[in-house]
Amino acid sequence: MSDEISIAAGNATAPGQAGEGVSPAPGAAGRKVFVKTYGCQMNVYDSERMTDALVPQGFSATDSVEDADLIILNTCHIREKAAEKVYSELGRLRKLKAARAESGKQTMIGVAGCVAQAEGEEIARRAPVVDLVFGPQTYHRLPELVTRARAGESVVETEFEIEAKFRHLSTPSSAPAPTGRRGPVSAFLTVQEGCDKFCTFCVVPYTRGAEVSRDVDQIVAEAERLAARGVREVTLLGQNVNAWHGEGPDGRAWGLGELLHRLAGVEGLDRLRYTTSHPRDMDDALIAAHRDLPEVMPYLHLPVQSGSDRILKAMNRRHTRDDYFRLIDRIREGRPDLALSCDFIVGFPGETDADFRDTMDLIERVGFASAFSFKYSPRPGTPGATMDAHVPEAVMNERLQELQALVAQQQKAFNESLVGTSCDVLVEKRGRNPGQVTGRSPWLQPVQIDADESLIGEIVAVEITGREANSLFARRVAGQDGGQAHPQRVRA
Ligand code: SAH
Ligand code: SF4
Ligand code: F3S
Repeated sequence: MSDEISIAAGNATAPGQAGEGVSPAPGAAGRKVFVKTYGCQMNVYDSERMTDALVPQGFSATDSVEDADLIILNTCHIREKAAEKVYSELGRLRKLKAARAESGKQTMIGVAGCVAQAEGEEIARRAPVVDLVFGPQTYHRLPELVTRARAGESVVETEFEIEAKFRHLSTPSSAPAPTGRRGPVSAFLTVQEGCDKFCTFCVVPYTRGAEVSRDVDQIVAEAERLAARGVREVTLLGQNVNAWHGEGPDGRAWGLGELLHRLAGVEGLDRLRYTTSHPRDMDDALIAAHRDLPEVMPYLHLPVQSGSDRILKAMNRRHTRDDYFRLIDRIREGRPDLALSCDFIVGFPGETDADFRDTMDLIERVGFASAFSFKYSPRPGTPGATMDAHVPEAVMNERLQELQALVAQQQKAFNESLVGTSCDVLVEKRGRNPGQVTGRSPWLQPVQIDADESLIGEIVAVEITGREANSLFARRVAGQDGGQAHPQRVRA
């Protein structure tokens, strides 16, 4: 999960794409919306759906904040100063709004996402420039909220209405356009939202609410729509994605393993991924899906946070380091080429040097292809925020550096081990230089290939010829697959 990203959800959701058959509201045509996204992939997905929801109102997306009639900050509250960053951004937007007003243009400003949920009315109070504040589970009502704000109301909506949102997401008129961050051939699909785990450091159960799973039919319909638009890879999203237990067409609650089997059968979808998983919810069926389904990519983000049993307990992660080792062994048994990625927190209250050594030892023993690591940041309202024995900033810095150096070394070794081998790459977009295209390996690294743009959207067999810190270089080779345990379908 990225620390903070900042992108426009701008990939122009043209009217007629998401808003088929719906006429713009009278007098509203031609308005532009700019969404700035912070936080996790689910916020990226949500930003795009917000734009989609506004199409019937005559809005289209813009990449230029200066041109926008509606500016939405889709915020994240996961680590420190998130709220402060939002307020300073709002200070900049106040000036922009004033400058646009001078040339006779009205600008509306909205704050969405997890800071909106956590701060609610406080935002409107501290930053009167804001016209509407709405939590992550209310954006399906955005057209109505915008209309109310235009009429002069200061709108604050932070109800948890997740079922209504999922129903809205599943109506064909709000069908997601293939605008996932990785390009039109790869898209995100939210299957589950919210969290019941209450790790003591984490704000997500408070900002996203209780766990809710989407039903199988809704998910399959969305996957089919994406596939029909040329999407070949889908990443299923959930705060706790492997706790997903949606109702199947047979009336039973399915698990994620079963869902992956169903989605593997969707014509045109060749690659499936999911994120983010909790170790407690890796059940037998899901582990078997990694072994049995060639569509499930051999890459798993499985955060452990700490390698110390004492700290894992204090974090309320509800498993031990040995549980994690055993789990990894079981998954790797069925899928030996699995690449693992992880999240770590250093400096949780009470973390001693010995605890940190346990984390370093866990990393040594497991071996990760990549990892995100963070200094502990007390979040208001979480149990961790009231714990004593704070770890000094300097110690956290040292631990973070040491941990990141080890992970970087492992990442380098993993990438190096691929040089000279062959694999399949899903070609996603133009490359860095003319005559190059960029795709993704099964293990999620970006791969630069000397090849023609006509290959975008194809899965091609390549030989890895070199590597950089975060990406690989490759040349095309003939034929099917190159030694993956599970060959992927390759189009010549
Ligand atoms: N649902 C996912 C993680 C969601 S948050 C899971 O259970 O693993 C993404 C990552 O942010 C977490 O894995 C954790 O490493 C980090 N994080 C969350 N809260 C944090 C905090 N208070 N301080 C520092 N890092 C935090
Ligand atoms: Fe946060 Fe824990 Fe839930 Fe992940 S499982 S979202 S870390 S409370
Ligand atoms: Fe951030 Fe909310 Fe996602 S706090 S990480 S945007 S769930």
